[in-house]
This record gives sequence, structure tokens and C-alpha cells, in this order.
Amino acid sequence: MTVTHQVYALLAAVSSLGFLCKADPLPPVSEISFEWLNGFFLKVSWTWERPVDLPPSCEVEYYVYRPTTAAFSTTGPHRKTILQQDVDRYLTEEAGSGRWDIDVQVVGVPPCDNWKSKNTSKTVTTKKPRGELVEDFKCVTDPDGMNCSWIPLDPDLNVTLSYGSCEESEENMTSLKKCDERYVDGKRNGCYLRDEDACVLIETESELKTFEAALVIRLPKMSIREDGDHLRLTWTSPDVGTACVWEYEVCYTECEIPRNCLTTHMDATEDGSLKILYDDRCRYEFKYKVKTSRYCIEVPSDGSGSMTYVPQGKGPAPSSDPGGNTPPVLSLSSTIVIASVLSVVLSVCLVLTCYCFKRHRDIFCPSIPDPSAIFKGMMVNGNKDLMPSTSSHLYTPMPEAVECCKLILVAENSTVQENS
Ligand SMILES: *[C@@H]1O[C@H](CO)[C@@H](O)[C@H](O)[C@H]1NC(C)=O
Ligand SMILES: *[C@@H]1O[C@H](CO)[C@@H](O)[C@H](O)[C@H]1NC(C)=O
Ligand SMILES: *[C@@H]1O[C@H](CO)[C@@H](O)[C@H](O)[C@H]1NC(C)=O
Ligand SMILES: *[C@@H]1O[C@H](CO)[C@@H](O)[C@H](O)[C@H]1NC(C)=O
Repeated sequence: MTVTHQVYALLAAVSSLGFLCKADPLPPVSEISFEWLNGFFLKVSWTWERPVDLPPSCEVEYYVYRPTTAAFSTTGPHRKTILQQDVDRYLTEEAGSGRWDIDVQVVGVPPCDNWKSKNTSKTVTTKKPRGELVEDFKCVTDPDGMNCSWIPLDPDLNVTLSYGSCEESEENMTSLKKCDERYVDGKRNGCYLRDEDACVLIETESELKTFEAALVIRLPKMSIREDGDHLRLTWTSPDVGTACVWEYEVCYTECEIPRNCLTTHMDATEDGSLKILYDDRCRYEFKYKVKTSRYCIEVPSDGSGSMTYVPQGKGPAPSSDPGGNTPPVLSLSSTIVIASVLSVVLSVCLVLTCYCFKRHRDIFCPSIPDPSAIFKGMMVNGNKDLMPSTSSHLYTPMPEAVECCKLILVAENSTVQENS
């Protein structure tokens, strides 16, 4: 055997070994098609021809790769099925679009897992393009269902809302329910959904969007009362989520100084309560919110509430202030304006008083005749010793300074001449 022959034999052995060990190429799937079962669930189907040289003991399964979204991160980068179809939930708001590029691959089940196919790609799309349509969609849960509302982006467009379960189950994947009891409340539109949780399809003639309804609970009312040297804050527990533990968070200012935020956990059987040390010289401003914590999906309260507490007897009674409005207080600028007006008025009064006083000086300060002059003769005649030695020591009033106002009459003609 020549060296050349030996090399060829070795190459052949290596390549056959490689062929056995390396992934044997399986043919890819073909004819991928898709069908929307309802607005949320999509059935993707394909066909595949089993190669004749595939050992009969080898089973295969199909991997469906779809762009990973947060909701599906638990299922990994792909879904597995032994059927030639796969049903899964595709929500536009999870993808941020109405199109998904998916790949389907055939893979042998161990011990045949070396056998793999190439990917076959397909782009699946929603029936209508995705549109924003509405914003700030939220559903307030109550024991019977959800009161959902949203702000339409274009109030002239007639959007329709349908809903159904987000759970994957044969019965739930066909029809959707229409939303009833539509209402308009200011800028918001809304309706009532008779379900505990739901996926929502919002559509117009030309666009749609699908998402899982965001739940909120109605904000519980807070009350405040003095309890010794503490203030006690209490809430009535929400009428939903009875299996949940609720977390109450309170942030507040004491005499306008921000304090650390406090949290407390309560289960639904007890009313929420929190105690804070209290200084009766201070005004308190509270902000609070509530959310589920353990044993439940996260549900926050619908916004946050605020309340002001002013100690009794030191100011107005405690007032509920859900809008977060503070009572009207004179602003610094208006105070300054009032002060300057007052000072101008006062100075004008002062000037007028001075003028008046000067004009009627004789009334306010009548000139009193010199008593020594009246009793002069009597004193001179009676007791000479008591008389002052010289008359120069006697008070002689100075001549009153009289302001001389000269009125200069100017002829109109001359002024005109001067100015011209
Ligand atoms: C198939 O596509 C997925 C992503 O869509 C990729 O992760 C995987 O590596 C691809 N497989 C092959 C054999 O190309
Ligand atoms: C839903 O909420 C709106 C606004 O708060 C209210 O007017 C309406 O009565 C509520 N509907 C139901 C069924 O509770
Ligand atoms: C909106 O659509 C609904 C159902 O298609 C229809 O009954 C209603 O009259 C429409 N309203 C307007 C203002 O177009
Ligand atoms: C989902 O299916 C279950 C039965 O499997 C049914 O009880 C439930 O009402 C269905 N939900 C919806 C929204 O259709």
C-alpha cells in the first residue's frame, strides 16, 4: 500500500466517523402556515417528510423559536412539540409589534439527538397592523369583575374592546367576549369586564393591539387619629384579593421636614394600621399607596392618596385631601405687593397729616400769651426780689417762619413760544 493510499483510507475513516458523530442533517420542515384562533392565540402548522434512512427507533420533535418576550422567558428560547403544529399566545404589546419572525427546526429525541434539521423561517403577523389606539389602560378590580378604562388617542375613532382568558386551554381559545356597559368619564372611556383577569383586544377598522389587562385596586380610604403621643393611620382592607398580603407604604413630612417612608404588611382579614410618633406642634402631610405583596400577582392601588393632619386646637380640623390640594395660602409675591401698597398709603396719610397740621397750626398749637406779661405789673409791684434781674431772660417768641409761596402766572402764549 502506498503512502497515498494510506492517506485516502485514513481520510475515509475520519469522514465516516465524522458522519456518524456529527449531526446528521434531517430535512427541514416546509409549508409553515399560521391561523389566529382568537385575537391572542396563534396556531402555527407545518409539514415534514420522514427520511427513509432515519433508523425507525429514532423519534423526532419540533422546536419553535420565537422572539423571546418577558412573559415567555420561563419556557426558554424555544417551544417543543411532537405534533406538526403549535398553539401559543402572541400579544402585540409583549412584542412591541404585530409581527414575529419564527423558526421551526426538527431535532431527534435522545439517543438520536445528533440528528437535526436546518431552521425554516416564517414571519407571522396580526390580522391588522398594530396601532397605539389607547393609552393608560387599567382595570379596577372588584369582587364581580373589572372596571376597565383608557384614554383614546383619537376620540373620533370608534374602538371596540373584546376580551378573553389569557390561559392556554382549548375552550378558552376560540371566541372572545364583547365588553359591555360602555361609559365615558371625562377624558376616559371605559366598560365592565366580567372576569377576574383577561387578555384584551382593542381594535378599529384598520388597527389593533392586544395585551394582558393591567389590574389596579381602588385606593382604600385612610383615616388618622391621635393615640396618646402617636398618630394612628388606618385603612379598610380591600374587598378583593382576600388571599393576598397587602403592603401599605406611607411617606410623610412633619413640620415640612420629610421623614423616612414606612411600610406595613397586612393580610386581608385585618384592617391596615400604622403608628407614628407625634409632635402636636407640627402639621403632617401624608402620601400613601397600597399593593399586593406575597401570594398574589402584583396589583398596585390606583394611584396614591394624600392627606394632611393639623393637630386639633392648633389649627383647622384634620381634612381629607385626596386631590393633593393644599389650602390657599398667601404667596410670597402677593404678600410683598400688599406690603408695598400699605406703605404707600401710610406715607400719603403721613404727608397729608403734616400738611394739615401745618395749615392749622394755630388750632393744634394756639399761641398762648406770655403769663409773665399778664402778671408783670403785679409781680413788679408786689415782690421785686422774685422778679428776674433783666428782661432779656424773658422768653420772646421768635417770629414765625412763614413760607412764602409765589405764584407766577405765565401766559399761555409765552409757554407755547418757549416750547416751540
Ligand atoms: C435556529 O434559529 C434560532 C433562533 O431563531 C437559533 O437560536 C438557532 O441556533 C438556529 N438553529 C440553526 C440550526 O440554525
Ligand atoms: C366603572 O367606573 C366608572 C368611573 O369610575 C363608573 O362611572 C361606573 O359606574 C363603573 N362601572 C361599574 C359597573 O362599576
Ligand atoms: C361604534 O361601533 C359600534 C359597533 O360596531 C356601533 O354600534 C356604534 O354605532 C359605533 N359608534 C360610532 C360613533 O361610530
Ligand atoms: C376557560 O375555560 C374554562 C374551562 O376549561 C371555563 O370554565 C372558563 O369559563 C373559560 N374562560 C373563558 C374566558 O372563556
